[in-house]
Amino acid sequence: MVRTRVIDVDPVNPSESALVAAADIIKRGGLVAFPTETVYGLGADAYNREAVRRIFEAKNRPMDNPLIVHICGLEWLGIVARNVPEEAHRIAERLWPGPVTLVLWKSDEVPGEVTAGLPKIAIRFPSHPVAMGLIERSGVPIAAPSANLAGRPSPTTAQHVIQDLYGRIELILDGGETLFGVESTIIDLTGEEPKLLRPGPIPVEDLERVLGIRIRIPDYAKGLSEAGVAESPGMKYRHYAPETPLELIEAREYDDISLYSLKVLEIAERHRSRGFKVVILASRETGHEYAERGFRVIELGSRKNLYEVARNLFNSLRAVDSLGVDLAIVEGFEERGLGLTIMNRLRKAARQNRIVV
Ligand code: TXA
Ligand code: MG
Repeated sequence: MVRTRVIDVDPVNPSESALVAAADIIKRGGLVAFPTETVYGLGADAYNREAVRRIFEAKNRPMDNPLIVHICGLEWLGIVARNVPEEAHRIAERLWPGPVTLVLWKSDEVPGEVTAGLPKIAIRFPSHPVAMGLIERSGVPIAAPSANLAGRPSPTTAQHVIQDLYGRIELILDGGETLFGVESTIIDLTGEEPKLLRPGPIPVEDLERVLGIRIRIPDYAKGLSEAGVAESPGMKYRHYAPETPLELIEAREYDDISLYSLKVLEIAERHRSRGFKVVILASRETGHEYAERGFRVIELGSRKNLYEVARNLFNSLRAVDSLGVDLAIVEGFEERGLGLTIMNRLRKAARQNRIVV
């Protein structure tokens, strides 16, 4: 058991004292949870093997699932990676700092513990003032996975971090709710052609525009299958699932939304007639239809503003278990832009328990 401190920080103008206290812990090999523009991360000095091992322990993370290294400044790219291709520089110059992670060849500077022994390393330059300030004052790259217990939805508030990691880490910097609410877009630039490993806040269409070429989207990046370790480590693990069974109802297309909601309603009614208590996670456009029929509804946001849906996603998945229901049904979203990111998370959370209507 570790004594966990929680310090409030202003997310826009973090106080020097909070950042220095956190950086001191990092320098001494401790663990600090901190907000980023995507989700909260659980950070340790990436150059300190023992500290990095403690991240895996605190999260119950399988040892073969590599971590992202967080940097502050483009000059770090050439230090933690080698043979950096032109595409990486182009993305870094246009989109960093920001929610996109590059997978490149690892340099010898970074210990193998960070990448689970792999020759490749995932690198991200976050744009959140607290994350940037912490990395800068620590003076080292910070290895940081999302600050949740392995398998749980990623934390978008300090409360979520407290639920999962209190007593396991030295410090939580509480900077309020994160902006995007879903983890960074990950793109692998080590192959012949760029490959999307995980969709995130930066839509793959934007990356394609920056690079001027198509990016391959494997099935596992859509959340449709499990990836082998060799292909993409960590994409094979159970993710985001609430304890309550979750059923995802996808549409072939979402053009006629009232027809779609009728189909969702029909399925929900069938479960209810068998005696199940059901909650429906739904868009603003359709949620009232279910509420009018007496279903509990968690509203995710508008179909016209998928940023809102993404931001509410993990919080809503965490909320399901406290409702005392037997089953959660969640609506699907069109797989364009941020919709791909949302569907990746929902298919994983539902563990392929999906119906296409
Ligand atoms: O937005 C984010 O990316 C957040 C914040 C804290 O920065 N971090 C995050 O880390 O989501 P994590 O560990 O929860 O997810 C990172 C994913 C994992 O699925 C991991 O397997 C993959 O990135 N990954 C890390 N290093 C890799 C590598 N060398 N090759 C392929 N995949 C890698
Ligand atoms: Mg994670």
